[in-house]
Amino acid sequence: MINVAIIIGSTRPGRNGEAVARWVHDLAATRDDARFELVDLKDFGLPHLDEAMPPAMGRYDLPHTRKWADKISSFDAYVFVTPEYNHSTSGALKNAIDFLYAEWHNKAAGFVGYGSLGGARAVEHLRLIMGELKVAGVSSQVALSLATDFENFSALKPAAHQERAVSAMLDEVVAWGGALKALRDGTTPARP
Ligand SMILES: Cc1cc2nc3c(=O)[nH]c(=O)nc-3n(C[C@H](O)[C@H](O)[C@H](O)COP(=O)(O)O)c2cc1C
Repeated sequence: MINVAIIIGSTRPGRNGEAVARWVHDLAATRDDARFELVDLKDFGLPHLDEAMPPAMGRYDLPHTRKWADKISSFDAYVFVTPEYNHSTSGALKNAIDFLYAEWHNKAAGFVGYGSLGGARAVEHLRLIMGELKVAGVSSQVALSLATDFENFSALKPAAHQERAVSAMLDEVVAWGGALKALRDGTTPARP
């Protein structure tokens, strides 16, 4: 069974992201085809990238990087719960992604965006970033509207169809996360 992280992509006080991620996790926890764990960027207290060597060199000198790398490398797939800030993902999430390199490779990702247009522009940016990190982003995504899936733009009240969207996204994340395992294990001949 694969391990899937549900990553809370915002860190600000009063963030909506935590409620969104907990809702996704509660739905995911009813499944028996993967293990799901909430990962909160706030628990890692990452500063702006402060490693001397580029992450692609695979040498991490600082304890906060090693702790983050150990956590991220323990998963087969990720669900990124991202706010939309100025038509992109959060600086905190981009920074946390930038800290690592090989830990992300040959894994799958799903996306849950929220914002005035369902966080769609933030997710599009994340998809480009994931491409560079050899992460396969699944097509089905969850787009929560601040206007119709929240009350007063702050209390999460997702429309009924959003549960089906989460389910479809998780189906693909679990399938692709499992399929890519052979590549991660080196049991396919064409390991990059
Ligand atoms: C700095 C900042 C920029 C934002 N820019 C956008 C934006 O470009 N598009 C959008 O739909 N919402 C935007 N919003 C609204 C956020 O989507 C909304 O506040 C959301 O709740 C933020 O996620 P968080 O509460 O988890 O931090 C912005 C909010 C902030 C704080």
